[in-house]
Amino acid sequence: MILVAGSANLDFVVRAAHIPAPGETVLGQGFTTYPGGKGANQAVACARAGGAATAMLLALGNDAHALPLLASLESVRVRLHTLRSPDQATGCAFICVADNAENAITVAPGANLCLQSQHLPELQDVSHLLMQLEIPITTVTAYAQRAQASGVQVVLNAAPAQGLPPELLQAVDLLVVNEGELRALVTHPGTVVAMLRQLEVPSVVVTLGQRGCIARQQDAYVLQPAFKIAPIDTTGAGDTFCGTLAAHLGRGETLAQAMRTASAAAALACTASGAQSSIPTAMEVEAFLGQQPVVDQSQIDALKSYCGLDAS
Ligand code: RIB
Repeated sequence: MILVAGSANLDFVVRAAHIPAPGETVLGQGFTTYPGGKGANQAVACARAGGAATAMLLALGNDAHALPLLASLESVRVRLHTLRSPDQATGCAFICVADNAENAITVAPGANLCLQSQHLPELQDVSHLLMQLEIPITTVTAYAQRAQASGVQVVLNAAPAQGLPPELLQAVDLLVVNEGELRALVTHPGTVVAMLRQLEVPSVVVTLGQRGCIARQQDAYVLQPAFKIAPIDTTGAGDTFCGTLAAHLGRGETLAQAMRTASAAAALACTASGAQSSIPTAMEVEAFLGQQPVVDQSQIDALKSYCGLDAS
């Protein structure tokens, strides 16, 4: 079983021509709410990817915003360990999606901050614990240490970007970050590969948007160029990647195999609006992969060059 411990937010989304600059007001084109939150998005992605069962530990308020979040997780049969906070509101995220598909997100964490070390359920039957950073970092550290002591693989998506305490990094088996998040973790900014070398974690995956992704596994590198799509909304694409990756690792696939499927799922997630609403099923991902051309050496070379791998 894959256990996700993390946030659930109701996303309040407005589309606009561009993301407002500080002090600017822009007129949007429409408003929608979607189930979101990095933890819940990853749990839905993991469940839609199939394979091992998915469970989630989350905290919600006793309010109406919690209802669509529960409904979305239950619709894909995620086994829920839900803490209800009597005095904190369910987490909310305020998202502006621009016409170029990029977004800006502000989170009001609310009940997500109520998750404490004592809330972690029994880890019997859990192969992987998947976490993010929208719950207290002390809680993430305590869960990672308990999982490590129980022989559970710890997968940490270090998002949103922040520095991590060494005791947390020591308990992580696989770290997944984007380039900005990677930069927040190292003392010496440099090429992607130079930054990857500074992290003392067994495996690290760096997602690079339209370029693809790279992983360092001990001293070896895995490269996966991105699949070409016409993006509408990139919200939740990183979460789709993480949830799908964990599901496929849970099936015993190699990191390279899991990265390929996770990249395809993340690409598809960019072609529809919203976070959980845009996460594809395993069948959709398989059909998409079946239509893809063989990877060109020039794509690999471009990715290597961007990451600074050819110069090392
Ligand atoms: O990664 C996207 C998610 O970030 C959104 O669903 C929002 O809730 C925030 O947690």
